[in-house]
Amino acid sequence: MDLTQLLNEMTLNEKIGQLVQLTPNFFEETNGDTEITGPLQEMGLTTEDLNLIGSVLGTHTKEQVISIQRNYLANSRLKIPLIFMADVVHGYETIFPVPLGLASSWNTELVKEVASLSGREASDAGIHVTFSPMVDLVRDPRWGRVMEGTGEDSYLNSLMAKAFIEGYQGEEAKLDSDFRKIAACVKHFIGYGASEAGRDYNTVDISTINLYQSYLPSFKAAIDSGVKLVMTSFNTIYGVPATGNKWLMRSVLRDKLGFDGVLISDWAAIGEMLAHGVARDLEQAAKLALEAGVDIDMMTPAYQKNLKHLVESQQISENLIDEAVLRVLQLKEDLGLFEDPYRGLLTREELSKTKLRLKTREIASQSMVLLKNEEQLLPLNPSKKISLVGPLANSHDVLGAWSWVGKIEESVTLSEGLSSEFTNIEVIGTKDRTTFTFNERKEMLRAAKESEVVIVALGEGSEETGEAASKGVIQLPKEQLSLLKEIQTVNSQVVTVLFNGRPLDLSEIVPYSQSILEVWFPGSEAGNSVSDVLLGRVNPSGKLPMSFPVTTGQIPVYYNHLRTGRPMSKDNKNEKYISRFLDIPNEPLYPFGYGLSYTSFSISEATLSSKVLKENQTINVTAKITNTGDYTGTETVQCYLKAEVGEVARPVRELKAFKQVTIKPNETIEVTFILNQKDLEYVHSDLSERADFGNYVVYVGSDSQAPEIGKFSFEK
Ligand code: NOJ
Repeated sequence: MDLTQLLNEMTLNEKIGQLVQLTPNFFEETNGDTEITGPLQEMGLTTEDLNLIGSVLGTHTKEQVISIQRNYLANSRLKIPLIFMADVVHGYETIFPVPLGLASSWNTELVKEVASLSGREASDAGIHVTFSPMVDLVRDPRWGRVMEGTGEDSYLNSLMAKAFIEGYQGEEAKLDSDFRKIAACVKHFIGYGASEAGRDYNTVDISTINLYQSYLPSFKAAIDSGVKLVMTSFNTIYGVPATGNKWLMRSVLRDKLGFDGVLISDWAAIGEMLAHGVARDLEQAAKLALEAGVDIDMMTPAYQKNLKHLVESQQISENLIDEAVLRVLQLKEDLGLFEDPYRGLLTREELSKTKLRLKTREIASQSMVLLKNEEQLLPLNPSKKISLVGPLANSHDVLGAWSWVGKIEESVTLSEGLSSEFTNIEVIGTKDRTTFTFNERKEMLRAAKESEVVIVALGEGSEETGEAASKGVIQLPKEQLSLLKEIQTVNSQVVTVLFNGRPLDLSEIVPYSQSILEVWFPGSEAGNSVSDVLLGRVNPSGKLPMSFPVTTGQIPVYYNHLRTGRPMSKDNKNEKYISRFLDIPNEPLYPFGYGLSYTSFSISEATLSSKVLKENQTINVTAKITNTGDYTGTETVQCYLKAEVGEVARPVRELKAFKQVTIKPNETIEVTFILNQKDLEYVHSDLSERADFGNYVVYVGSDSQAPEIGKFSFEK
């Protein structure tokens, strides 16, 4: 398709329409000759406007997509197909673990598979673009959206970004020939995860060096992986909302990162520039956004109602509109829509739901993190007398936020998963998560007392995480904590299973649990996946992608923080004028990278191949990992680096590489990390990325508190 020729045939109105995105209810209301009410009217749009718009977000079924596309094409002069976009974040109808859980697998192949399968299922329902992955760096667990991210480390985030995108789009992004692949939209550019106090949509203020060092890499990785779309963030960057921030979008996103795909605003973000106080009306907001290079206006009438006047009154050049339209048309071409506006939907064979279910069961078990396992209470022996109690025992609310197409009632509860495994199990759930009836409490305690081991299923609800779900207190509800405490007095063999979407304050959980399994929101097969782990059919191997604070007052607490002038050490921890809290420790309860296994591992003979790394050469870090326990297990061996002296203050350490090894009992495996100059590069005060000559400390171990294993110097 000659897109320039098509552009030349378009009227200004037709061009502007391509830049507008609406929800399906706008279209459905106009099917037939119905009166215009609801959203259409509120936005002041007419049926003629609708016949011109370029894309739709949030359809639920294939039939809906076919019908909207059919009606649209019948009424459109140039017959340019609509694009259908949706939030397919961790599955479409079959739900996989939430992204924070997926990141806990530290397994990029697994993440790629999830993206590929969920993209495939979504494409069967007519979706062409997913608003995923969210690669925002997250350091504040109060922010509900941490469940949607991949954690606090920009290196891990970058690997995960690449995996998601390659999974959705295919490594070669041949979306016009493979309709089972969908386009990815990386979000939110940029800094959304840094909302002050973790309150959603709140102010963000990030220094340039921090922005470049910590926040850009995951977006760079996404763009380098060929991501087709980028979504703007709601927040301000240097005082200007990202959606109208010309410097950010033109100089950083387009020029520095080389992005040439479609830039879409977040929902209503163009209109929200009025509330931010940087635009007096929608016309000014539209001007700011278009000048910044935002191609699609999601869910406001700003572009639809104002761009024409802006061109006609010569406040903006039509070239700016042409530029944006061409990018949208290019995406349509890339998706193969001009060739087949239904992308094979009318004839395709759908992916088997049974296969998807099996996959989600297998994948979810790899996202779980064993936080504590005293006296090896886990794995459980199925001949034991078990009780399963607590608000999450019988709950179907295990899908997590962003699972809007997933059917909650079809998810497997923990009780369903475990009941088929144990011959002697009693289950007492509760109706509510925050208040238990007198009888429920009494029964739970009785069951706990009468069993050999009690599994206490605690956690958050899906709606307590995700968008607009920030929390000031990240402890579980008091009722849950007091239940656990009481259970401990009648039975000390307590396994706590946690369903949640953010790092929690576990200070009231850890002392009263012998074992703790963090299962996040595991998805459609939750109960079966958790059973696989509790029974030891799967040995847990997850590692935390985000630190668990001791208490809210530590937040933000993340492993790769900068050094301070008065660091606390073992020797000075009682002195006054050092960087510490008087009442709480500096270190998190569970650090980044942490996670246990049913077996144990020891790391020995960690060595460096040389004391010197020369420019353009490599240095090998080698270590031996031995399985010293009784079960075959997978360990994620992590390699961290610290630059002793930098031009600017540098983090206390940074993850540079990791490897997953599966080892049988008594077996030893050698792992090697190959480091080079690239691994030493960082953002300097002039924003250039380069490596400094000097000494580097190497740490190898099983979490971010890994011990030092040696030093090398980087020389010319
Ligand atoms: C708002 C969210 O911030 C964004 O992530 C999402 O993709 C859009 N809504 C569309 O649902």
